[in-house]
Amino acid sequence: MAPVEVRGVVARSKGAPVALETILVPEPGPGEARVRVQACGVCHTDLHYRQGAINDDFPFLLGHEAAGVVEAVGPDVTDVVAGDYVILNWRAVCGSCRACRRGRPWYCFSTHNATQAMTLADGTGLSAALGIGAFAELTLVAAGQCTKVDPAVEPAVAGLLGCGVMAGVGAAINTGEVTRGDTVAVIGCGGVGDGAVAGAFLAGARRIIAVDIDERKLDWATQFGATDVVNARETDPVEAVRELTGGFGADVVIDAVGHPETYLQAFRARDLAGTVVLVGVPDPTMTVELPMIEIFGRGGALKSSWYGDCLPSRDFPTLVDLYLQGRLPLDKFVSETIGIGDVEDAFASMDRGDVLRSVVML
Ligand SMILES: NC(=O)c1ccc[n+]([C@@H]2O[C@H](COP(=O)([O-])OP(=O)(O)OC[C@H]3O[C@@H](n4cnc5c(N)ncnc54)[C@H](O)[C@@H]3O)[C@@H](O)[C@H]2O)c1
Ligand SMILES: [Zn+2]
Ligand SMILES: [Zn+2]
Repeated sequence: MAPVEVRGVVARSKGAPVALETILVPEPGPGEARVRVQACGVCHTDLHYRQGAINDDFPFLLGHEAAGVVEAVGPDVTDVVAGDYVILNWRAVCGSCRACRRGRPWYCFSTHNATQAMTLADGTGLSAALGIGAFAELTLVAAGQCTKVDPAVEPAVAGLLGCGVMAGVGAAINTGEVTRGDTVAVIGCGGVGDGAVAGAFLAGARRIIAVDIDERKLDWATQFGATDVVNARETDPVEAVRELTGGFGADVVIDAVGHPETYLQAFRARDLAGTVVLVGVPDPTMTVELPMIEIFGRGGALKSSWYGDCLPSRDFPTLVDLYLQGRLPLDKFVSETIGIGDVEDAFASMDRGDVLRSVVML
């Protein structure tokens, strides 16, 4: 059958503004599902793609933080059916790689995506951001990328669990293993960082220090459970975190920016035997220099958090339940809802710090 023609947000070349273009979405083949996207958040990673900071596989179909309804599935698909309400994930685990076989599927090294490519009208293949591409009315994914959740959660909120908020919550709970009584500092309080603040709050951290360079972000962080805020433009964040933790540093420090400067702050702002979690994505050109004696002498763990080490089938439904019970204020992440033609403006709002999340409604 012929592919369906819809509109999608495409980044054609490095740094160039994105544009709304006609794209062709194939019929789902074996193992695939086609999803009618209802909402898709604008994540900083979309901007990284359009800047060429992830890879050079232009043109990209952007958008990867989405919820919607399965429209059609391929012949052999049984886990989801047309009509299911789903959050799209970028970790459809394979079940057979060395990580999966060791019982650590959240590290899966061979995750599934759709086999067929969506294309531009002239047939040029599109690279779907994180194997999703959901700034589009329809998208084609691997069936395993569809995680069914309770339809009581509205799409604009549910979609955020598909990337940034999940990455942040998971950076705190899964990777940082924040537990009750811990002190936690989060550097960079955008969608991801505030997810980490909310995760630390859920886990019972006794002190949650939010660090940002923008006062508005610090105000918002308090709504997710930050007990203290530090404006890193005015105050040395390492000194401030030490002061707020009895002179020692925090048990877990999460870098949700991903710059050498913030990583070094995270390294130095943690207590002995503490954990640093890098969840912000660095540019490939960035490097850090650290005295090895300090890496040894401070002990603890330096970890990276890919997608909050989440397992979508386990974590999405759980976090949706917590939201529906009023224990996780996911709706506060939605600063504005916008149209599919407004993604470029949303990037500008993100850069200015005006929003936590702009969510495209389809
Ligand atoms: N690891 C993952 O799986 C994963 C998933 C999603 C996003 N990310 C990455 O996480 C990072 C954050 O994403 P986001 O969507 O929250 O972005 P965002 O732009 O919404 O937030 C970034 C925040 O960092 C703050 N900031 C910038 N420089 C700072 C500094 N020097 N000190 C303190 N704060 C500073 C900004 O003011 C802003 O509040 C990005 O690099 C994104 O690519 C990672
Ligand atoms: Zn695997
Ligand atoms: Zn993202």
